[in-house]
Amino acid sequence: MADSNKQREKFSSKFGVLMAMAGSAIGLGNMWRFPYLTAENGGAAFILIYVVLMCTMSLPLFITEFLIGRRTRSNAIGAFSKLGFPKLKFIGAFGVLAAVCVLSFYSVVGGWAVKYLTLAVSFRFQSPAADYAGMFNSFVSSAWSPVIFTLIFIGATSYIILGGVKQGIEKFSKVMMVILFIIIIVVAIRAVTLPGAMDGIRYLFVPDFRKVTGSTIVAALGQSFFSLGLGCGTILIYGSYVKSQDDITTSSIATAFLDTMFAIVAGIAIIPAIFAIASINGTVPDVNAGPGLVFITLPGIFSSMPFGNIAAILFFLSLLLAAITSSVSLMESITAFFIERYGKSRTVSVLMAFAICGTIGIFCSLSQGPLAEVRLLGLNLFDFFDKTSSNVLMTFSGLFMLCFAGWIMKKEDFMDELGAHGHSSTAMWLQKTFYILVRYIAPFGVIAIILGNLLL
Ligand code: PHE
Repeated sequence: MADSNKQREKFSSKFGVLMAMAGSAIGLGNMWRFPYLTAENGGAAFILIYVVLMCTMSLPLFITEFLIGRRTRSNAIGAFSKLGFPKLKFIGAFGVLAAVCVLSFYSVVGGWAVKYLTLAVSFRFQSPAADYAGMFNSFVSSAWSPVIFTLIFIGATSYIILGGVKQGIEKFSKVMMVILFIIIIVVAIRAVTLPGAMDGIRYLFVPDFRKVTGSTIVAALGQSFFSLGLGCGTILIYGSYVKSQDDITTSSIATAFLDTMFAIVAGIAIIPAIFAIASINGTVPDVNAGPGLVFITLPGIFSSMPFGNIAAILFFLSLLLAAITSSVSLMESITAFFIERYGKSRTVSVLMAFAICGTIGIFCSLSQGPLAEVRLLGLNLFDFFDKTSSNVLMTFSGLFMLCFAGWIMKKEDFMDELGAHGHSSTAMWLQKTFYILVRYIAPFGVIAIILGNLLL
């Protein structure tokens, strides 16, 4: 079954696979949520918990998606028919729908990153006294400008996808991820060499187990789930382009490792700078998460920092690269479905994905201003798509995927694919451990996220 479709494009190298997968995993989640969660939830204590949960719960699901994709050489929805369970197509449909929702609101933020890169390049973060909150709020709530930047971002994503798997996704990810790693390390070095930065390092890393509560654990799980990009059919579709003999376990572990390392380095690039500038200005360090951190606090920090303009350009460039390599994987999950389900060409399928996500993206963007009053389930459109995807579609798709792989799919098939049909060099005990985690442990992790979102 593994190589039934010889025409299907494949990634050309293991490095290409790793960079594409890491590109999907490393995104806004690493840059604007992980540093904050770490600082708020006990520093190194949080990182320790995060790594344990990642290895025992999120990584097994990552491996599952990867493995189903490679075995079926199909998109998330078609995969279940190919495995002989057409009735279970809804599991994949949840994933593709999640990809549509995530891409739609993610592109709005991607558009903001494009705009802020243009501001950084034109030296607009010069004055520490400027009203960066006012600047951000008036930009996102205006009608035209953020919509245009959202469409530019989705347009650029579409352009990369048009190039196909090897010439588009793989080539782009390889170059951009290397640049991204270099930039974030340079920005982190600049941050830790600022006077007063060590307080930030301490705040970020000194372990404090008293801050660890039940909600810390749910937060760590939810973050690792989103950060690995689970439940959107993205790993599945990338997995479907991986050669049959390549080892799934090592690529998956390497992706999770790079994703976590990047998040930690992003924390080192951001938190110490906030402390250093606060000590220079004699103010209280303002550590927050989300758009407020990236688009309001940081421009203020850059404006007070020596060589801050260069740091700002590098930072917003890295934000954009991190976001676009993730959006590429989301769009590929949707595009591959159109190609395989409706037999359309890649160009037509990309245009369809662009039209759908672009339209929803326009509404998400407008929900920050002109359409702020339009509510679905009490949420504005941006939050509605954010919450439905992360709280419902991604989690349920992930949970069902694990139940399928652990309890419905034949164990021999699972192990055969994980073992790369006898070509894997990963120790057998490790492969077996992952099977046990998929079957007995990881589903409880996803259930914990679902209950946590509902109750906390
Ligand atoms: N993992 C990405 C991030 O951390 C987001 C993402 C979610 C990518 C779902 C693909 C699928 O920002």
